[in-house]
Amino acid sequence: MSAIPSARVVDLRFEHYASPHQLGTHVQRPRLSWKFAGTPDGFVQHGYELEVYDQPPAAGAPCIHRDEVISEQSTLVPWPLSQPLQSRQRVFVRVRAWGDQGGQSRTAWSNIASIEGGLLQRKLWTAHRISSPWEYPKDSPQPEELFRKEFRTDAAKSVASARLYITAQGVYQAEINATTVGDHVLAPGWTVYDRRLRYQCFDVLEHLHKSPGTNVIGVRVAEGWFCGRLGWGGGFRNLWGERPALLAQLEITYDDGTTDTIGTDSSWTASRGPTVSAELYDGEKYDARLAIPGWSGSPDGKAVVLPQDSSNWENAAVCKPFPDSVLLIAEEAEPVRRIATVRPLERILTSSGKTVVDFGQNLVGYIRIKKVRGRGGLKISFTHAEVLEDGELGHRPLRVAANLDEYTLRGDVDGESWEPKFTFHGFRYVQVDGWPEPVEDDGNDGLLSSIEAVVCHTDLRRIGNFGCSDPLLSRLHENVVWSMRGNFLSIPTDCPQRDERLGWTGDLAMFAPTATLLYDCVGMLLGWLKDVFAEQCKHGGVPPLVVPNAVTNDPMFGHVLPAAVWADVAVLAPWALYQATGDVEILRDQYQSMVDWIVSIPRNSSRNCHLWDLSHPQLGDWLDPTAPPDNPAAGQTDAVLVADAFLVRSLELVAATAAILNHEDDALKYKAEAAAAKAEFGLEYISPTGRMVSDSQTAYGLAIVFDLFPSPEQKARASERLAWIVRRNAFKIGTGFAGTPFICEALALAGHPQIAYAMLHNKSCPSWLYPVTMGATTVWERWDSMLPDGSINPGEMTSFNHYALGAVAKFLHERVAGLQSTTPGWKTIRVAPVIGGELTEARVEIETPFGKAASAWSLAGTETGNDAATMLLMEVVVPPNVSAEIVFPEGSVKESTVVGPGKHTFSMAFSRRKDWPVEALRPF
Ligand code: BGC
Repeated sequence: MSAIPSARVVDLRFEHYASPHQLGTHVQRPRLSWKFAGTPDGFVQHGYELEVYDQPPAAGAPCIHRDEVISEQSTLVPWPLSQPLQSRQRVFVRVRAWGDQGGQSRTAWSNIASIEGGLLQRKLWTAHRISSPWEYPKDSPQPEELFRKEFRTDAAKSVASARLYITAQGVYQAEINATTVGDHVLAPGWTVYDRRLRYQCFDVLEHLHKSPGTNVIGVRVAEGWFCGRLGWGGGFRNLWGERPALLAQLEITYDDGTTDTIGTDSSWTASRGPTVSAELYDGEKYDARLAIPGWSGSPDGKAVVLPQDSSNWENAAVCKPFPDSVLLIAEEAEPVRRIATVRPLERILTSSGKTVVDFGQNLVGYIRIKKVRGRGGLKISFTHAEVLEDGELGHRPLRVAANLDEYTLRGDVDGESWEPKFTFHGFRYVQVDGWPEPVEDDGNDGLLSSIEAVVCHTDLRRIGNFGCSDPLLSRLHENVVWSMRGNFLSIPTDCPQRDERLGWTGDLAMFAPTATLLYDCVGMLLGWLKDVFAEQCKHGGVPPLVVPNAVTNDPMFGHVLPAAVWADVAVLAPWALYQATGDVEILRDQYQSMVDWIVSIPRNSSRNCHLWDLSHPQLGDWLDPTAPPDNPAAGQTDAVLVADAFLVRSLELVAATAAILNHEDDALKYKAEAAAAKAEFGLEYISPTGRMVSDSQTAYGLAIVFDLFPSPEQKARASERLAWIVRRNAFKIGTGFAGTPFICEALALAGHPQIAYAMLHNKSCPSWLYPVTMGATTVWERWDSMLPDGSINPGEMTSFNHYALGAVAKFLHERVAGLQSTTPGWKTIRVAPVIGGELTEARVEIETPFGKAASAWSLAGTETGNDAATMLLMEVVVPPNVSAEIVFPEGSVKESTVVGPGKHTFSMAFSRRKDWPVEALRPF
């Protein structure tokens, strides 16, 4: 057997986990996926060899299982062992593959990937849930609570491994011997806490001191989402419980196989910490004078004597065990982490005399200060905002969220460093008050060199990049990426700055297909979809507007009312994840959620009985630019039409899902329902000649993309009508959340891609580029969150960081740069750029489940108006194991072709379409 020179299997991973090493999982038959590097052009896997070990193979452990399988499959390959993964069981796997018939020449072995079972049964948690023993006032934010426990390892044995299983009702950060455990932010993350509570599993072997050293585990716990304030208009505290609690179990395994377990119980002690309050909306206040040196032990293992004045450590109270209705679940994806730091761009002195630091990018995270010197007791405060208005911090859109962090100095001569642990803010600007006077003679107070912004979000792998010859469009794409980063923080949220930051289902339903092209967010969204289902189970099958449902006490949103588009997330999001991965198990896991939603939709009781009950309130095409600032649902498109269009779409997708899952009866039933609903849609909303009752971009856009026309003639007429509407609107946007993802695609399908380009290039308000020309570095909630005169939109709901309108990035990838998947999971792709507008080049790269796919095109040669003949260069990268159909654009004469893995370049004569620039129509 020979090796294929330099070819190797890479990126071996389990399930949808990002890291090759997953500690703690509840998936008992985790599947494997891998990619290739260095394989020759045309490489298609013919078979693979897989080895399983119960110890790292480098340690010389024997292989416990070996498979040689003839198969092309390199993604989501079935679990190789006959037995499912057990609690605490760890396995190590490596893979190599071959592409020739006989398997004679194989790739190099992959690196090792490993996975370890979590605590799969509740009885394995021997630790007790604990809380502080003191009264916990219900109506005001409280200091963080510190919990600690000293212990020694068995002096007669040596420690082989140590795992910390830990979770909190609240948010926590653990330390062992004064060293932080892990790099999580806001662990354990946000779930529907009364149904699902996530725990983390950490390898803490390196943290432990050998006996006779003293070990201390200390855990800080703050309110977080569990009992801190959530919701607008003042919101509500204590949504899932009235005080934070902690559950931790440190398991130490010795060389001889024996174990010691240090679990939370009444022998742990509790005290209040120096973080005097930690709130998600209002920020964190830290008084360094209250810090308790040594509370979590010492790095050298010496016994710590806690200061006298901290003798108020009391024994923790043991709480009742979690009810069985709360599932304790291991992590489903990477956690929130500190992903990047951003240096200040500029220091601004405002006309009112305030010091404001501009970070040049609207981002999500917090401010870190380093080596700040000042007198003890001096309080420095940081107020965060996304924009300036009249040269001062624009705080109004934050509503009832102070976004104020405060640090009170201890007075250390060497300076003090600090960062908040239990809050986050959406900001570009920070107003700094109380910064210490300069210490040096040069008058420099060191502000800009002592602070930096820390960007936090769920640690997703970036997979999609786009660029083109129009820097504004490239920036638009980057803004979409930044808005996704800012709003994928534990759950997919609407905004990161004001008193919401909630898991609005409609926003994600509209953005999910785009999200999966930018970041690998599958694991994270799968976890959140379980929460969607958990909420549905409480509400008769209806997904609430926000998940987790944090607005149960709100007078207007309190009752869970079915709302189209938002609740359609139960169907649209799993379908988007299936498209991104080809993973049928996603559909299987979510099928009940899909069906429960579909059957709970209130239908019309008289005629058109497959469509929505007309009297039902709908959010419609939310934030259509013609809706008044204070009534975002009152757009130009009939809200029930929008609801019904999505109903047909959801029914079709549920029928398709049932067919994929071999639920034949359901497939027939939902197919028939979809057809009936579609026919009724035609009767209700489309004239015999193809006009629609709402003469709007969204109505036509949805009907074209969802293919809702009874006849081709009606569709053709509607296509022309849509083009006419957009031209008459001078290529300005006329869509809200529901129509925006589809409008450009509809124009392309309608045979009017140049009109889509005219919309993309447009800079007048409302358009995608208008915010970019106003200096936006993220996607705004409203088309005009900032008005052309620089003032903030008067609507009280105005964020500068919402991803929904950024769903257009999908069109940039799939049509402008021309790369799309044609089978769920990218096993086959199509490269079919639509060349138009003012662009002379565009490129997209996606890290697919098979590796990098790319499409780039550029025009060369001199142009003389519309008749210019020029050269078109196309470069295509097809990943190993994938085939691509190349469809050459209109304007070239090449026949389409199918190519295999590798890099392909094509050059050809090309004449630009003659219909650019498109003319706007003058309104009457
Ligand atoms: C949120 C939206 C959400 C909407 C629906 C807003 O406050 O920010 O993104 O979908 O409400 O009511």
